[in-house]
Amino acid sequence: MQEFSSITTLRASLRERGTRTLGFVPTMGNLHAGHLALVAEAKRRNALVAASIFVNPLQFGPGEDLDAYPRTLEADRKALQAAGCDALFLPSAEELYGATPDTCTRVHVPELGTHFCGASRPGHFDGVATVVTKLFNIVQPDDAYFGLKDYQQYLIIRKLTADLALPIEIHGIATQREDSGLALSSRNGYLSSQEKAVAPVLYATLKQLARKLEAGVKDFASLEEEARAALEAAGLRTDYFGIANAHTLAPAAASDRELVLVAAAFLGTTRLIDNLRVSL
Ligand code: PAF
Repeated sequence: MQEFSSITTLRASLRERGTRTLGFVPTMGNLHAGHLALVAEAKRRNALVAASIFVNPLQFGPGEDLDAYPRTLEADRKALQAAGCDALFLPSAEELYGATPDTCTRVHVPELGTHFCGASRPGHFDGVATVVTKLFNIVQPDDAYFGLKDYQQYLIIRKLTADLALPIEIHGIATQREDSGLALSSRNGYLSSQEKAVAPVLYATLKQLARKLEAGVKDFASLEEEARAALEAAGLRTDYFGIANAHTLAPAAASDRELVLVAAAFLGTTRLIDNLRVSL
């Protein structure tokens, strides 16, 4: 696996790939089985695979965990090498945003970015959309792979790719879970062992709600309220819990057939997110 920290040298090397297709897995590092499932799918579909590790300051708000975000480069490097990744891009913030990041051009995806995590974390999706667009321009992959745990992020990236006519196919890969049902996340490392025992209630609550929807219950507001109460009873502090149209993320209408249940909740100081798609 070759490593690059400069845009120019990465581009020069990728230009030599000729007709071989390139799959790209952008990450913020601290890789777990969820990330490696993205690399595995990229290996399956593409002749070459590139990954990036960059903890993107633009997508963290004031008071969020930018400084505490786990950085485990040595282990990540070994995992990517073992997974058969061909190129690893490790840019500095200065390489991506120059000396004055505040004056850099931003990418903003209206509407989709306003719901759920967009409302709780103002500016977060502008930061994600900006860095992903920039990485896409640098790497110029044929395919790019994102985890469906960050379902809203996945929809936003699909939208910006279509809106900006980027010739990249976006793939959403199923959430990887622990046996308990807890979705794998780099932030799970913040949980104490006691909190880790409670955390699976988030997915359990999503599944319970899905069963009620599948049984024909349509009173979405009451279902959301019940789910919130279940989370609070288990000791989580709900940030949001919503039943939404799976394509637009607008509040679900009784006629919608493709729904997504989305949840974010704090356990202590750790913010967990998860979602579940339901087809009726
Ligand atoms: O999902 C992530 O790890 C990040 O939001 C991404 C897509 C790598 C952009 O920084």
